[in-house]
Amino acid sequence: MMHIPSKDTQIIDDSARAILKTNDRGGYTVPNGRVYPFQWNWDSAFVALGFANFNRDRAWLEIETLFAAQWDDGFLPHIVFWQDDSGYFPGASVWDAHENPATSGITQPPIAASMVRWLWDSGPKSERETKRMAALYPKVLKWHRWFARYRDPEGRGLVVATHPWETGRDNSPEWDQPASRVDISGIGPYERRDTSHLEPHVRPTKLDYDRYLAIVQFGREHCWDHDIIARTGPFRVADVGMTMILLRANRDLLALAEALGRRQDSAEIKAWIEKSRAGIDWLWNDETGAFCSRDLIDGRSSAMITSASFLSFYAGVGTEKQRQSLIAHLDRIERKINWMLPSLDPDHEAFDPMRYWRGPCWAVVTFLVARGLLDEGESAWAERLRHDTAALIRDTGFYEAFCPISGRGTGGDQFSWTAAMWLFWAGKA
Ligand code: GLC
Repeated sequence: MMHIPSKDTQIIDDSARAILKTNDRGGYTVPNGRVYPFQWNWDSAFVALGFANFNRDRAWLEIETLFAAQWDDGFLPHIVFWQDDSGYFPGASVWDAHENPATSGITQPPIAASMVRWLWDSGPKSERETKRMAALYPKVLKWHRWFARYRDPEGRGLVVATHPWETGRDNSPEWDQPASRVDISGIGPYERRDTSHLEPHVRPTKLDYDRYLAIVQFGREHCWDHDIIARTGPFRVADVGMTMILLRANRDLLALAEALGRRQDSAEIKAWIEKSRAGIDWLWNDETGAFCSRDLIDGRSSAMITSASFLSFYAGVGTEKQRQSLIAHLDRIERKINWMLPSLDPDHEAFDPMRYWRGPCWAVVTFLVARGLLDEGESAWAERLRHDTAALIRDTGFYEAFCPISGRGTGGDQFSWTAAMWLFWAGKA
């Protein structure tokens, strides 16, 4: 039976489409016009799914534009500075990556392969779309080869993040301890722009920013040599989020390789998947009963349950016992707050329901977790996550994130990926 959206839903659908159109800069979409005026890596991948709702051509273009900024060695930057804009700091000159277009020197969660697969699978598989998929495929493969080559220095099958911004969960308390050893004595004065757009209490602290900049300085001083950065940089953490996302992305890339008859590539990708499956247990913290990020410099587990811990369902990993433990955590968390899924365990002392990645609910991560729960047969949980995300957007608007207790919006509004998640998932009751 055809799904007929209610009038109310139609109005929200229209607003979501209007946000994507307003934030469209012609070929790429800014996450938010004021706070984030450039192209962001994983935002664009999510945004493509939103465009697929009303303009498939534009959806493909979003990812194609992102890959137009890929470096020769396969690296895909976290920001592409297609045009100047003084409203954001640190801009292109601070990164000094000597690329054209100008880019940052760090990457972001490798979710693009999964979005390319979703796009292609959900479409007509016409000759035109298959050609676009086939043209993107070698670029995505090259990016994944870059991860295999540079981001697993200990050969564990995990992803090492070299900057908190790479994880996409900028100020998660998981990074507090690993970042505390970063030397901030040489950063000099600088002026943040984010706090002139938004209230400082919903943003990362000054100390967080000092550390972010000191790590950027290290990369710049090493001319963005990713081999050196991943082996000797001041911040090196095996991130549970990037690891789970890459594992799933490799499974999706494998499906594309098979569809294209790329036998040799398939064998290479399968080997990455096996290695990650075998290595992931190193992130399991038995005392916490969850997958947690782990510092590569001192080997310590963060012992923190964040929304990324639940991405194991999305990656399709974990024993029955591990899954049960995670579901028990969902049960416990759900009783503490009103809207799922908070970015940090509300029982953790660092929980701060309005401050960015230290508590608020983010539609994109909630979507990935819900998708994983659905795939793993936990459909009631998947629906609860979808329902809560829809309620937050319906009642509050298209905010960057939401307070899991009051439901208030936090961060920027008119946010592209929140609009995309409504169109692709949350609004589809
Ligand atoms: C923040 C988020 C990151 C996102 C970016 C643009 O830095 O933490 O995940 O990609 O904003 O929206």
